[in-house]
Amino acid sequence: MITMIKKTLAVIVLAAMVAGSVCAPAFGQPMTKAEKRRLFLKGAKLWGVYCNQCHNARPPGEKAPYEWDMEIMHMRTLSNMPEDDAQAIVQYLKAK
Ligand code: HEC
Repeated sequence: MITMIKKTLAVIVLAAMVAGSVCAPAFGQPMTKAEKRRLFLKGAKLWGVYCNQCHNARPPGEKAPYEWDMEIMHMRTLSNMPEDDAQAIVQYLKAK
């Protein structure tokens, strides 16, 4: 009886581990080349659309790549843009 419970528990734990690794969120994982490309192309289109709304769209060369993360965070709060759009624009601005 005890061994059966132990076996059942082992199966449950293993199943949870498998499910955890399959359904794990993508946080902190390196971005694939295809994903980077998708964001870059989207960002190239959206940059002029969003960033021209309140001032002339600032050129990619105006800030260093690490500065754009902070800049976009700030502009994102001002303009209320969705996460994926902000990610796309930042990819475009950093890839100069
Ligand atoms: C909702 C209006 C709005 C939108 C949209 C907007 N900005 Fe801005 N931006 C501002 C305002 C207002 C300032 C100046 C005051 C400030 O920094 O809060 C500014 C300032 C800046 C600055 C100068 C900050 C500094 O370091 O001097 C940069 C760079 C910039 N924006 C980039 C962008 C980019 C890139 C986008 C597109 C993703 C964008 N902005 C979209 C309103 C906006």
